[in-house]
Amino acid sequence: MRLFLDTASIDEIREINRWGVLSGVTTNPTLVSKEHEDPEAVWKEILTEVEGDVSLEVTDMSSADAMEEQGRMLAERGPNAVVKVPMTPDGLEAGKRLMKSGIRINVTLVFSPAQAILAAEIGAYIVSPFLGRIDDSASDGMHALRQICEIYEVQGYETNVLAASLRHPMHVVDAALAGAHIATMPYEVFTKLVKHPLTDIGLEKFSADWAALQHELKGGA
Ligand code: G3P
Repeated sequence: MRLFLDTASIDEIREINRWGVLSGVTTNPTLVSKEHEDPEAVWKEILTEVEGDVSLEVTDMSSADAMEEQGRMLAERGPNAVVKVPMTPDGLEAGKRLMKSGIRINVTLVFSPAQAILAAEIGAYIVSPFLGRIDDSASDGMHALRQICEIYEVQGYETNVLAASLRHPMHVVDAALAGAHIATMPYEVFTKLVKHPLTDIGLEKFSADWAALQHELKGGA
């Protein structure tokens, strides 16, 4: 399973990128707005920093034509750009046209297996079910993800399942078990993946024992 960061913060991206585990980035209008900078500059910096896929979302949802036009402009930002379109009739129409012309799309705001079937049928590169938001609406996001992964397997769909709106490390572990191809998560979740109290305790013990040996070799008591 490829690991993506769900952020538009270049500092967060640089930190996780140096771990050697970052395969891509997903952004959305909310995340870009949090940077309070020119979106063009934000997207450019991310596309340059990250080798893997970077999802950039269309913001003019007024028609399929408008999304297609903006999608083409976003795709020109870099070879690793993936265009996010919403799960709406216009989004599907624009997405299918973009895929046909060789532009990879990520169908976003997906909340059900039925919607995920539609994304696969237009040949989307990525489908993004929002697990945490499904949980927020008193439903089971992980169950929906498992169903989507099973349907894709049974049907032989090639669309990549990207588990999105992940809120904690167990979401990531369960998404991997379900067979998601990609998991995208906020910086806070990424940094929790690396932490374990026994790692910290083990490090402290190793350091203390090593320091004691140095002290002993120098003739200490
Ligand atoms: O970027 C899409 C998705 O991951 C959003 O997550 O936490 O805003 O529900 P969240």
